Amino acid sequence: MKSFKQIISKVKLLVLFIILYGLGLGVKAQTIIIPVETAKNALVLQVGSNRDLNAIYFGEKLLNSAEYSQIPGTFKQTEDYTSLLNSAYTPSGSRNLMEPAITVTHADGNNSLDLRYVSHQIKKVDDDVSLLSILLKDPVYNFEVTLFYKSYFKEDVIEQWTEIRHKEKGNVVLHKYASANLYVKAGSYWLNQYHGDWAKEMQPEESQLTHGIKTLDTKLGTRANLFQPSVFMISLNQPASEDEGSVLYGAMEWSGNFRIDLEVDYQDNLRIIAGMNNYASPYTLKPNETFSTPAFLYTFSDKGKGEASRKLQSWARNYRLLDGKGTRLTLLNNWESTYFDFNENKLAELLKDTKKLGVDLFLLDDGWFGNKYPRNDDRAGLGDWQENKSKLPNGISSLVKEAQSNGVKFGIWIEPEMVNSKSELYEKHPDWVIKQPLREEHYFRNQLVLDLSNPKVQDFVYGIVDKLFMDNPNLAYIKWDCNAVIYNAYSAHLNNQSHFYIDYVKGLYKVLERIRSKYPKVPMMLCSGGGGRVDYAALKYFTEFWPSDNTDPLERIFIQWEYSYFYPAISSSNHVTDWGKQPIKFRTDVAMMGKLGFDIVVSKLNGNDLKFCQDAIQTYDVMKPVIWQGDQYRLANPREGSVASVLYLNAEKSSGVIFNYLVNNRYGEGSKRPILLKGLDAAQKYKLKEVNLYPGVNSTIDDSRIYTGDFLMKVGFNPDVNAGRTSVVLQLDELR
Ligand code: DGJ
Repeated sequence: MKSFKQIISKVKLLVLFIILYGLGLGVKAQTIIIPVETAKNALVLQVGSNRDLNAIYFGEKLLNSAEYSQIPGTFKQTEDYTSLLNSAYTPSGSRNLMEPAITVTHADGNNSLDLRYVSHQIKKVDDDVSLLSILLKDPVYNFEVTLFYKSYFKEDVIEQWTEIRHKEKGNVVLHKYASANLYVKAGSYWLNQYHGDWAKEMQPEESQLTHGIKTLDTKLGTRANLFQPSVFMISLNQPASEDEGSVLYGAMEWSGNFRIDLEVDYQDNLRIIAGMNNYASPYTLKPNETFSTPAFLYTFSDKGKGEASRKLQSWARNYRLLDGKGTRLTLLNNWESTYFDFNENKLAELLKDTKKLGVDLFLLDDGWFGNKYPRNDDRAGLGDWQENKSKLPNGISSLVKEAQSNGVKFGIWIEPEMVNSKSELYEKHPDWVIKQPLREEHYFRNQLVLDLSNPKVQDFVYGIVDKLFMDNPNLAYIKWDCNAVIYNAYSAHLNNQSHFYIDYVKGLYKVLERIRSKYPKVPMMLCSGGGGRVDYAALKYFTEFWPSDNTDPLERIFIQWEYSYFYPAISSSNHVTDWGKQPIKFRTDVAMMGKLGFDIVVSKLNGNDLKFCQDAIQTYDVMKPVIWQGDQYRLANPREGSVASVLYLNAEKSSGVIFNYLVNNRYGEGSKRPILLKGLDAAQKYKLKEVNLYPGVNSTIDDSRIYTGDFLMKVGFNPDVNAGRTSVVLQLDELR
């Protein structure tokens, strides 16, 4: 074993080499290899003889890390004229010829940047998490970038971000400032991306990437994912399937404009450059100030999309989603049963219904506020967060009390970032509203967005939440909505309009940070007129999100399926509503696949429907630990056949639940063949029992039979889904 002294002297020698080289004394630095390894994967960086920092490998890790240095020699692709094609953070204006990760104008007006390795350090945060930081400096300008790689060993996840700073004689303008710059080598690249609109969230599209740049981006400012979410998958060599193939998942942790450039270069390699969108956003950085980018999150699996999604889900529960390992409240929401039309008497009835149904909480939606401009539709009142005196003469606090006396909790809807032009807030603070001073206003859902780059607006938004909790300490839940995008981007507060899009989101996070430091665990739903704002930066502050206003259960099977690749079931708020033509059982079964809620008129349910819902809530109580914390295995893809099937299995592989649906109503369609289960213990014996049966209906499943895990994974099980049994929930238990 080397002595401590020997190690220290080696480190000193290396530092000396670098310093001498840095001083231009011509001593060649030795090649440094920096592997970022997780349980199964490796991202390997190399410092070349000229101190460029390059990525030489991304994929399954090697048994012998000493062999990483041999990787570059195994490729005989065409020449890299710059030695920057595989740069770990590509600067522009010097040797680079491809899409850059960073572009700047220095204080003296010069547009060139070169970044050379200076040093790196690895900090072990705990047994699972490590943080690598690498310092790069421009040899000519006093300008530096630190790259951060936070790796989660067990989960095979990496978060990557950068810090940019300088000590030049004046301000530097950052024109592009990516969070990460990855470099992947494969025979071909298959992008699975998403697009959407209101009620059509998470529509997948898969295509082969060709040479040149494909950009995924948004310029909406708020509700930024409405047309294009920042999550995507890249399969290598061929499209990955659920259980086979190499696939990278990526996601920007940013709730505003993002930009992800996917460039297949002339050597046929894939360059991924992800970060905030630089659209209309050149950022002026003062000397000694630090510009931090949000993180880009990624994972990789060589066993298909299913494994990659389980890694990401478990990372989210362990590290990101607020209270990811905790519990959640089932609820009754009044949005679709009343819309804006309610009063105290109606709500008193709904509170009784909440109890009768058997859920934990009543959630009062939009329409409870505004007096000069009452919120009786979506054209007025937004911004005036005082209880409407004619609808709620006794205020929210009397409702919270009333809920308590009914034995249920109370939650409330807000949309604090927004304002109607018909509101007292707008009249009092027109300068708090995002709009072009000389142009006609343009509305999205009849409303405008407040300028969260302004600290006074941040105080106002924080104050809305704080006052609700101060006045009602027993308030148990917040639904935070965000229905408008940003038009006419202009802040009356900012001197530099180019900072607007970035400072808006930073302002939002400041507010959420304050809320969470005072109210760390109160459940909050991240809603955005549906799923227009779902990302892993926002989910640090929220316990759940609203995937879509489209609650037609048939549509939801598809929407929830796609979200599930990136987000765990515990974070997905699924409500039973009157959308769609399916019976209540089908609607409830689909909603049970995540965090269950209802938005129906309970008093209008017939006896059997009510009994079914009440029983289903009890069944859900038993099954929710495995739905919320279990591993998810997609068994039958609704896009590939007439049946959809998903298994949730606990970590011990001893119990689970399988949801099965008919998604094609054509004659004779159903589960003609058995469905292969996954993830089980082959040697273990299991029983399967149908649950969530509608009153009076008998199951066609013989639950006295015993199967080995081996049988269920090789031969499978037939849930007997058909036109008469369109939705089948099975409980799986090991035989004890
Ligand atoms: C949009 C949300 O998605 C709905 O659930 C509801 O809260 C409405 N806003 C209220 O305006």
